[in-house]
Amino acid sequence: MSEAVKVAVIGTGNNISALVQGIALYRATGSLVGIRTPVLDGLGVGDIEFMAAFAISPEKIGRDLTEAIFLPPNNFPRLAAGLPLSGVTVRRGLTDATGAERVAQELAGAEVVLYAAPSGRPETARSYAEAALRAGAAFINTTSDPVARERLCLDRFVTAGLPLLGDDLASQFGTSVVHSALLRLLAERGLTLTSSYQVNLGGTEDFRNLVEHGNTKLQSKLNALAADAAAAGRVQLAPLGYLPHLKSHKVAHISIEAQAWDGTPVSLDVKLKVHDPSDAAGVTIDLIRMAASALRQRRAGYPAEATALLKSPPGTPA
Ligand SMILES: NC(=O)c1ccc[n+]([C@@H]2O[C@H](COP(=O)([O-])OP(=O)(O)OC[C@H]3O[C@@H](n4cnc5c(N)ncnc54)[C@H](O)[C@@H]3O)[C@@H](O)[C@H]2O)c1
Repeated sequence: MSEAVKVAVIGTGNNISALVQGIALYRATGSLVGIRTPVLDGLGVGDIEFMAAFAISPEKIGRDLTEAIFLPPNNFPRLAAGLPLSGVTVRRGLTDATGAERVAQELAGAEVVLYAAPSGRPETARSYAEAALRAGAAFINTTSDPVARERLCLDRFVTAGLPLLGDDLASQFGTSVVHSALLRLLAERGLTLTSSYQVNLGGTEDFRNLVEHGNTKLQSKLNALAADAAAAGRVQLAPLGYLPHLKSHKVAHISIEAQAWDGTPVSLDVKLKVHDPSDAAGVTIDLIRMAASALRQRRAGYPAEATALLKSPPGTPA
């Protein structure tokens, strides 16, 4: 059995709640329901040891990670009673580059730094990447802010011999993967796309934030769709909608109009409803193990196997 991966989490929001609770659930039950990769390079889904956590809200700083994940505005549900304390006390995060050295020292011993703070703050994302570099850890950017797409940043991880995975999660069964699979199917079957759109509605803090800071997210969502259809301007993304009563659910509508043989019309409408934080955690667990595996095998830079799990890998537009 491989040694557990030492993980530091940046942000203690809904996605970290779904990740921490899911790992505990799978350890307790041995269930394989909803797991994409039961064992990845010798690492099971339970082979994760959280060793540090960072937040900026005063209510979370100083609390145990297990307590912090249930504090508002997090609204991912409690999956089981009696989750034991983690023994990890949440520390004060950084909001600008000045705190990078302090955070780097507090990251000592981490193999993987999982960046799960709000999207739309690229400078903060890069400051945490800098802290991970100084601490000698792999970095995963789950946000839509460009980090792995920044040539200079990627080069620095390569030079330091460290893995860098990003940018932006392609959720386990999210709008992007379902929409792009349908567009691919259309092309494979010889249909001609006329127009297509997607609408995403959600009730999480992430949605509330993205309504105001969604610039990097819209580009990233376009990156995740079949490049030819998006480039031709036939796919439109409606602005994200924040509906608090949806709580941690995301509801997406995907609409596709196409032409088949004889130019006759074909319409397809899909409604997708998921728990958005679980959708993220289902791929985050694989990215953590890919990052740890690359670090342990001394593979620096961007590991190509992460591409299926990301919306905006290096080389896509920022
Ligand atoms: N399916 C998904 O949920 C999904 C998919 C792709 C990408 N993402 C991205 O993953 C990230 C995390 O999503 P979430 O739903 O957990 O968001 P969230 O808003 O619930 O959690 C983010 C947490 O980070 C904290 N934070 C803010 N600034 C910080 C700082 N400087 N240092 C440390 N912590 C800070 C916030 O207070 C909050 O607790 C977001 O950027 C989101 O866009 C999510």
